[in-house]
Amino acid sequence: MQEKIYIFDTTLRDGEQSPGASLYPEEKLQIAQQLARLGVDVIEAGFPISSRGDFEAVKQIAENVEGPIICGLARAKEEDIRAAGEALKFAKRKRIHTFIATSEIHMKKKLEMTPDEVKKAAVEAVKLAKEFSEDVEFSAEDATRSQVDFLCEVFEAVLEAGATTINVPDTVGYALPWEFGELIRKIRENVRGIDKVILSVHCHNDLGLAVANSLSALLAGARQVEGTINGIGERAGNAALEEVVMGIITRQDILPLRVDVDTTQIYRTSRLVSDLTGIPIQPNKAIVGENAFAHEAGIHVHGVMKDRRTYEIMDPRQVGIPQSRIILGKHSGRHAFEEKVKELGYELSKEELSRAYIRFKEVADRKKGITDRDIEAIIADEVYAPPEVLRLDFVQVTSGSGLLPTATVRLVREDASFVESAVGVGPVDAIYKAIAKVFALSHQLVDFRVESITGETEAIGEVMVRLEREGRIYSGKGASQDILEAAAKAYVQALNKLLAFTRKEGR
Ligand code: KIV
Ligand code: ZN
Repeated sequence: MQEKIYIFDTTLRDGEQSPGASLYPEEKLQIAQQLARLGVDVIEAGFPISSRGDFEAVKQIAENVEGPIICGLARAKEEDIRAAGEALKFAKRKRIHTFIATSEIHMKKKLEMTPDEVKKAAVEAVKLAKEFSEDVEFSAEDATRSQVDFLCEVFEAVLEAGATTINVPDTVGYALPWEFGELIRKIRENVRGIDKVILSVHCHNDLGLAVANSLSALLAGARQVEGTINGIGERAGNAALEEVVMGIITRQDILPLRVDVDTTQIYRTSRLVSDLTGIPIQPNKAIVGENAFAHEAGIHVHGVMKDRRTYEIMDPRQVGIPQSRIILGKHSGRHAFEEKVKELGYELSKEELSRAYIRFKEVADRKKGITDRDIEAIIADEVYAPPEVLRLDFVQVTSGSGLLPTATVRLVREDASFVESAVGVGPVDAIYKAIAKVFALSHQLVDFRVESITGETEAIGEVMVRLEREGRIYSGKGASQDILEAAAKAYVQALNKLLAFTRKEGR
C-alpha cells in the first residue's frame, strides 16, 4: 500500500509574511475554506501572538473550517503557546506548532541562549502545548545550519516531552537536495522514537530548491511536507505545494506515495490566493502559470495535436485548468453565466452570483468576446473585493494634450461623502491626489501596475497598487474596461486595507 504524505499548508502564516500579502481575517477565512476543498491535511492559519488581526483570523478559521487540522504557530514561549491555545480552542481538530532555533548563529546572535537553555525551552514549550492540544508539532528553526548531533538531541528530548510531529526547516533555503535527503536519513537513524511520529520538512526557496529539497526529503523518509500555494512567502518564498503534489503524482515511478489532495482544485486555489494577496503569478510558473500548458513552437503544437503526451507530462484538467466548454457573449443569460462560473471552479452564493452577473452584463454590452480571464477579473473585483470602509462612488477626469490633467472623485462612507478635486502630472496622478485628500493617514505609493486581461483595447484592464505605511505594505486591485476607474478602485482598495489594519491593531 502507498504510504500517505501529509500536506501542511502555511500560505496563511509563512505565505502571509511575503511583503504586501497582508490579508483581512475574512480573506483568510475564504482561503482556508478553499484549502479545505483542496483537501490539504493541515492549515497553519497564523501566528496568534503576532497581532490582534492574526489571533482573530486563527480563531475564525478554527471555528468555521472543518476537515483539515487547524494549526497555530507559537515561539517556545509561554505567552505564545497560551495565545495559540486560546485561538484554537474551538477547532474540531487542532495543532500547536512551536519552534526555536538550533543553529549556532541563531542561538548566539538572535536568542542569546546556550544550547542547553534552547533544549530546555523546547521541552517546556512542548509540555505546555500538550495542555492545550494532544497534537503538537516542534520545529528546529534553521535546522540545516545546525550541528546534526545537537539537532538530534533536541528532537529526542521533545519527542519524549510528547511532540507528535518533528519538523526540519531549511529556514534560509541553504540546503542542496542530496544533502537535505542525507540529513533526513541521519535524523531517522539517530533519533530514538522518530518512527513513532511524523517527520516533516519545511523548505525555503532562496536557491530555488525548495521543491527539489522537499521531494528529496520524501525519498529519504519524511512524511509531511510544508509549503504554500504559488510558493509565496518570506524572501524567495516557500516550497510551492502545487508543485510538490504534482511532482509526487506525476513521478509515481520514483515516488510511490499517496496524497489525499483533490488536484482539480489547484488552479482555483492558486487564483484565489493571487487575487486576495495581490501577488501575481509569473506566466511561466510551473503547474499554474498562464503558459504552463501553452505551446507556441510549431513542432510542439504539431506534436500535442497528434498526442498530448508528446510535450505534456500532465493533463491540464488534472489541476483544474478550465477547458472552456461554454463561450459567453452579450446574449448569454444568467443560466449560461452560472454554468461558466461553475466550470471555472467557483462556488458563489446567490447574492454573489447576482452581483457578478450584473457586472458581466455591463462588460458584455461593451466587449465582443468574454474570456475566462474576464470572468475571473469580474469575480475578483465584485465578489472577492475586501469589505470597504470608503467606497468609490465616481471618478471624473479631464485630460489630453495641451490640457491640465484634472480629476474629481467622490468617496462615500456609511455616514458621509467626500468630493475632492486635484490637478496632476497625468490623469492617474490627478485621481490619486484627489483621493489622497480624503484620507488622513500618511502613506507612500510603492508600486503601480497595469495589465490588460486580453489583447484588445476594449479589454478589461487590471490595476495593482501597493502602498506602504510604517514598514507595512497594503495591496489593492481594481478591474474595469475604463483603466482610470480601475486605477482609482485599486487605490481605494489598498487604502481600505490600510484603514482596516490600523483600526484592528488599535493604532
Ligand atoms: O522557516 C522556518 O523556519 C519557519 C518555522 C517557524 C517553521 O517558518
Ligand atoms: Zn518558514
